[in-house]
Amino acid sequence: MKVFIDTAKLDEIREACSWGIVDGVTTNPSLIKKAVDALKAKSENIEMEAHIKQICETVGEGKPVSLEVISLTRGKMIEEAEILYHKFNKIADNIVIKIPINTCNGEDTTSDYDGLKVISELGRKDIPVNVTLIMSSEQALLAAKAGAKYASPFAGRIDDYIRKNLDIKFEKQDYFDFCLMEAIGEQRFYERIEDTSHKPPQSVYLDQETKKCIDFAKDKGIGSGVGLVKSIIKIYRNFNIKTEVIAASIRNARQVKEMAEAGADIATIPFNVIREMIGHPKTAEGIKSFVADVVPEYSALFR
Ligand code: E4P
Repeated sequence: MKVFIDTAKLDEIREACSWGIVDGVTTNPSLIKKAVDALKAKSENIEMEAHIKQICETVGEGKPVSLEVISLTRGKMIEEAEILYHKFNKIADNIVIKIPINTCNGEDTTSDYDGLKVISELGRKDIPVNVTLIMSSEQALLAAKAGAKYASPFAGRIDDYIRKNLDIKFEKQDYFDFCLMEAIGEQRFYERIEDTSHKPPQSVYLDQETKKCIDFAKDKGIGSGVGLVKSIIKIYRNFNIKTEVIAASIRNARQVKEMAEAGADIATIPFNVIREMIGHPKTAEGIKSFVADVVPEYSALFR
């Protein structure tokens, strides 16, 4: 699995690149805002063009840097994509344009399909696209059909959504225990089925409360962020679809492991989560004992 760093902060990109583990960078307007705010907090100004050029150079030739458009309609998004691509791709031949799968904000549905139009239009212009804000397998299938090079399912936000719908309190970085959620869901379902055992199958089959139990803790049949990523990988493999899956909106190290097990092509990981991946108390304990056990005969080799 390739590792992208999910940040626009240059110091984080530089540091993670120095560890030799970065295959690419993803940004979005909120991550750019965080980078700007962090610099402003240190009374430093940001010159955006120079900042992005440095990101491209730091990550290196051919290692994808995703930059997102900011408009919500076809014409504007194409214009912005071309500006971003032509301004920055010459630096290290690594620009990928991020396009939302659907730019509709839930109110005016006229722009429902502008994202798809832009994805296919940019494909025809040979501008690589990373389709962002993917929250369902159905959207991922459409993104691939439209010609996306990358599809970014937002795993963490799906976990958040399911937990919020269930009224479960959680912190952003908390691990989402989907096995537990599945078990609770199954228990609800069987309790409900037992309740209805005296009723004729037709009425059980049509019972709305029973239907709710089947989909308890699920969103469109998806039980977790990693479940979403697995489903997309399965669909892409079924049809030999070449679009690469970027597991996005990652919140903790355990989720990274699950994405790797699921076979995600890429995980885009925030800096703090990459740092979380390195630690284990038994590694620290091992280091202590190795250092304590060094005998003079062995350390003499290094003098
Ligand atoms: C990456 O492409 C996404 O922009 C990012 O992972 C979103 O993460 P968030 O849900 O933590 O904001």
